[in-house]
Amino acid sequence: MLLVTGGAGYIGSHVALELMRRGREVVVFDDLSRGHRDLVGKALFEEGDLKDLSRVRAVFGKYPIDGVLHFAAKSLVGESMAEPLGPPHGVSTPWGQILILTVCVHYYLYSLVALLTVL
Ligand SMILES: NC(=O)c1ccc[n+]([C@@H]2O[C@H](COP(=O)([O-])OP(=O)(O)OC[C@H]3O[C@@H](n4cnc5c(N)ncnc54)[C@H](O)[C@@H]3O)[C@@H](O)[C@H]2O)c1
Repeated sequence: MLLVTGGAGYIGSHVALELMRRGREVVVFDDLSRGHRDLVGKALFEEGDLKDLSRVRAVFGKYPIDGVLHFAAKSLVGESMAEPLGPPHGVSTPWGQILILTVCVHYYLYSLVALLTVL
């Protein structure tokens, strides 16, 4: 099973659809801050914030995930230029990127594809 973070967004939703078209099982993880539930289609859906470590670990515990395609991001260019490290109080995009990498390592998961223009 593949986990698609940000799978309710523009790129992630298309990738999730294509993976399912190719017969892969997909679970989408998205906080819907920028995405749309309707775009998830028939994929399994888990709503949550990537920066919530316990929530992410719960999803990894629930499904037999063997690969991650990581698209969750706050991807507006102006926003990332104004606050490259994200808003204060730990609610930043880089923090989410670090956490997903940490969880992948914890689960000995070496299949990670990340599309990141916002770091
Ligand atoms: N759209 C493009 O043309 C393009 C081109 C190159 C690279 N990228 C990169 O690809 C990635 C995805 O871009 P997109 O256009 O699909 O953006 P998008 O905003 O449509 O999708 C991002 C998704 O991530 C979700 N998300 C945001 N923060 C989250 C969090 N903390 N926890 C869980 N979910 C969260 C949003 O709800 C949204 O559904 C970004 O890193 C972007 O910079 C996009």
